[in-house]
Amino acid sequence: MRFTVAIDGPAAAGKGTISRAVAAHFRFAHLDTGLLYRAVGAKVAEGADPVAAAEGLDLSDLARGDLRSAEAGQAASRVAALPEVRAALVAFQRSFARREGGAVLDGRDIGTVICPEAEVKLFVTASDAERARRRWLELAARGGAQSEAEILADLRERDRRDREREAAPLRPAPDALLLDTTELTIDAAVNKAIEAIELRQAQGRE
Ligand code: CDP
Ligand code: CDP
Repeated sequence: MRFTVAIDGPAAAGKGTISRAVAAHFRFAHLDTGLLYRAVGAKVAEGADPVAAAEGLDLSDLARGDLRSAEAGQAASRVAALPEVRAALVAFQRSFARREGGAVLDGRDIGTVICPEAEVKLFVTASDAERARRRWLELAARGGAQSEAEILADLRERDRRDREREAAPLRPAPDALLLDTTELTIDAAVNKAIEAIELRQAQGRE
């Protein structure tokens, strides 16, 4: 059985949280594609050539250092604007998306570029203030010292760069379901995603 769930949206909207819960619920594999760009960004910050870093990426790179930091996010969004870097990461993501047993991928271009044939596409959003508040809570719990205002500025800068780039800009696929999580609890957001997938699975059986 091949079944792909594509989850895209701006920073800290809840993509990863929803993806992990959906993957556990349906026993699908999950790939956080942001981690690929964060790992390339971290290698470039250490002096590597961006394209060589992307071409040579391996699993151990995804476990390195603090890839969740705001600095790693900024480094990721800069290398993510380079078409050659994106091209080097396409084949791995596509084969993950179409693997046997179902897959959930979250990122910016999953429904538009990586897997336009995905059975379910969600575009997850939340207000800027709510996203900054969530990321602040998350980073503060891990000892981060950034203020909410600094995090808001960081998310906005990254979103702008992601939306305005020529290569695979952040935007909803025409057939994506928009899921605004501003007023939703995590459980409510996850349930909406599960419902959309169950609906599509039922259609597939008709
Ligand atoms: O993957 P993405 O950057 O889109 O977001 P995330 O890491 O899944 O979510 C960012 C933070 O918001 C996490 O700490 C989640 O627990 C939290 N969250 C929330 O409070 N309410 C939601 N409906 C979804 C996520
Ligand atoms: O968790 P958060 O939403 O803050 O970021 P992320 O998903 O880890 O992505 C970090 C950066 O990688 C983004 O700002 C994008 O520039 C880039 N990215 C991308 O271009 N395409 C993807 N499929 C995933 C991430």
